[in-house]
Amino acid sequence: MWNDAFVVHVRPLLTGDLDACLDIVRGLPEFFTAGAMEAIRHDLGRRRGWAAEEGAVVGFAVVERRSRATAEILWAAVRRDRRGLGIGTRLIEHVLGALAEDGVVLVEVKTLDRSAGYDPYEPTRAFWEGRGFLQIDRIDPLPGWQPGNPCAIYVAALGTTRPG
Ligand SMILES: CC(C)(COP(=O)(O)OP(=O)(O)OC[C@H]1O[C@@H](n2cnc3c(N)ncnc32)[C@H](O)[C@@H]1OP(=O)(O)O)[C@@H](O)C(=O)NCCC(=O)NCCS
Repeated sequence: MWNDAFVVHVRPLLTGDLDACLDIVRGLPEFFTAGAMEAIRHDLGRRRGWAAEEGAVVGFAVVERRSRATAEILWAAVRRDRRGLGIGTRLIEHVLGALAEDGVVLVEVKTLDRSAGYDPYEPTRAFWEGRGFLQIDRIDPLPGWQPGNPCAIYVAALGTTRPG
């Protein structure tokens, strides 16, 4: 039988989604520190974002435009009990499509580098790599990140950066 609860709809993030997003983040303490929580609260109302909805908000992504043709996915998360079901893929594919339509050709995402030896981020790196992101650098320490958290810089190309 068709079950509406499993239909994931991606839409622009609204100010009223803040609490639902913070609840998702609160449920993932091994991924997000209290500082990250504050930064997400700050970014959510100021940056372009998208929500994955399945009746309720089960995932979100927040993006910062860096220039006409580049952007960074600042935050992305899926509710703990809905991870690994394709929601993050649906969300990020939508975000990348919207950015491409808007002229973005390079998208960055920063995550914890494998040299940290911290298991929870293994599926996260696999997620970005599986969505076509390539690691181009490792920065340790990254200004603004807590010491001991080597940063992996990933990028995905949505188009060509070369003329002609
Ligand atoms: C990363 C995240 C946004 C991905 O969303 P998701 O809905 O779980 O991902 P999907 O189900 O669409 O994609 C699954 C892929 O991600 C990886 N993955 C995601 N969650 C996983 C899990 N719990 N166990 C194993 N692999 C997992 C796998 O590589 C899988 O690839 P495959 O579909 O090719 O097998 C989500 O898992 C999450 O919120 N993680 C914790 C917070 C986080 O790491 N945010 C990003 C910070 S940079």
